[in-house]
Order: sequence, then structure tokens, then C-alpha cells
Amino acid sequence: MKNYIDLSDIEDLPALLDDALQLKNKNSDPELGKGKTLGMLFFNPSLRTRLSTEKAAKLLGMEVMVMNVNSDGWALEFEDGQIMDSNKAEHIKEGAAVLSQYCDIIAVRAFPELKDKERDNAELVMNGFKKYASVPILNMESATGHPLQALTDALTITELKTMKRPKVVLTWAPHPRALPHAVPNSFVQMMQKMDVELCIANPEGYNLNPEITKNTRIFHDQEEALKNADFVYVKNWSSYENYGETLKTDGGWTFNQEKLRVTNNAKVMHCLPVRRNVVIADDVLDSENSVVIHQANNRTFAAQAVLRKLLKG
Ligand code: CP
Repeated sequence: MKNYIDLSDIEDLPALLDDALQLKNKNSDPELGKGKTLGMLFFNPSLRTRLSTEKAAKLLGMEVMVMNVNSDGWALEFEDGQIMDSNKAEHIKEGAAVLSQYCDIIAVRAFPELKDKERDNAELVMNGFKKYASVPILNMESATGHPLQALTDALTITELKTMKRPKVVLTWAPHPRALPHAVPNSFVQMMQKMDVELCIANPEGYNLNPEITKNTRIFHDQEEALKNADFVYVKNWSSYENYGETLKTDGGWTFNQEKLRVTNNAKVMHCLPVRRNVVIADDVLDSENSVVIHQANNRTFAAQAVLRKLLKG
């Protein structure tokens, strides 16, 4: 694997999931990363991605360097041909080239601004690193995708499913802030690669990018979508159509026990962090149906499987 920037970088998904499961059962490659360094650059906060990816690298014998770019680094310019007389002191051309001298893999987290759809879809930060670094790039959540989270989600469903082709529902839920589309985008794309019956539930005005959802069924009636679901993935996202906005909804979309009863005793997933009693009610998060901690644990093994592939080139 040359990079892990989006799901198209996965050559063989079943084999990658097998690798992750094997690594979970037994750390089979503790020497592979000896003498290699993972550089982790954060333009935004993180708990799970930061610690699970660092742990994964260390389990493979790698050294890890972490930098919070906004507070500790020079402000980077990502557009070519700029007269750099603003606050941006360093161009990605030099920045990525220099980081490639110190790191064997560069991992980057850079959220969207949610102001300009075309600009966010252009993935300036991730593509800047891809273009100007000479080492593999690992996406730790970009403007439009979170492929490490999606691999974790696929691993979790593969482990916990009790039938060949489970029904998986991605349902929107409320949130006080405007959130990116990266997690739901990558989840939908990943489920489209798997043998599941996928549908999406969201209020009117909250349809995801149609180039991503393609033929996936979208319901605006949450209860209708949830009927007989085996897995429910709960997530908020801002409007894609009215880009980055939070629209007025009927307020009844919080996932609670009443919603759970409509399902086939579904396992409930969320990427975390989750706002209790806004996105998912206590009575679900504290129930046996919630698999969010199991899911978060799998972040390490998904990251380990990907790092292993990147180290092997
Ligand atoms: N799910 C996830 O990416 O968590 P963090 O934002 O804490 O890394």
C-alpha cells in the first residue's frame, strides 16, 4: 500500500480485515517497524485516533513523533503560486519534503472549514502532503473522509455479526454544533464494499453527497429505516446541500430505547466522542446493545493493519 488516504487505497478488504483480526489476537509483527518513525501531525483535536495510532505504531516497533501543528508549528501555505506575505510562514512544498527526511510515514488530521464545499472537497491539506512528501501518507481524518475509522467499523461489524448479510442503518442524530461529513462518508463507502444491507436515515436537507451515497436507500422517516436493523450507526453531520449549516429539525432524532425497540435488538455503534442524551440516550449507551467501547478498542488493530501495509510498501 503506497498511502492510506481514502478507501480506494485498499487493495483487498477481506485480507486487510483478516490482518487486523490476527493482530488483535496476537501481535504478529513486533519487529517490522524497528528503526522507522511515524510522524503524526494534528491540525485538530483527537483522543482515539491519536492514542490508538500511536499505540499501533509502537506495537510494530516504530518510534512516534507527534506535533500539534496549529499551536507548535509554522502556519502552512497549501496553495501553489502564492505571494507568501500573510501569516503563513512555510509552504507545504518545503514542509512535506522536510518531514519526509525525519519520518518514514506521515499521518495527518485536518478537518474541513465547512464554509466552501468545493474547497473542502479539493482536500488541499491531504493532497498537499501526498503531492510533496516522499513517504507514505496516512489519513487520520480529512475534510471528507475518515478511512481509519471506517476500517475499524468494518472490523467491528465483521466480528459481531451473527448472520451473513446484516441490515446496517446509518442514522443522523442531533448535535449542537455543525459537524463534518468525513465519518458518515467513509462509513457509507465502506459498507458499500461489504456484504450488508445498508440504508441511511436523515431528516430532509441532510442528504450526504450523492456522489458518495449513490444508490444507497435514504429514508427521512427514522423509524421506518430502523425496522429489523442488526446494526445502527448513530452520527450527526451538518447539511451538505446547505453546506455546513445546521437546519431546524423536529427534534425527535436522538437515538434512545424507544428507537432501539424497532430494531432486531441491534448493536449500536458510534465513532465517539458522543454527546449523551443529545446524540444517543443514556439508556442505550449504558445498555448491552452499545458496542462503542469495543469499536474504539478496534481502532488500534485497524491502524496496526494499515501501518503494516504501509511499512511493507
Ligand atoms: N473517532 C475519532 O476519530 O475519535 P477522535 O476524534 O477522538 O480521534
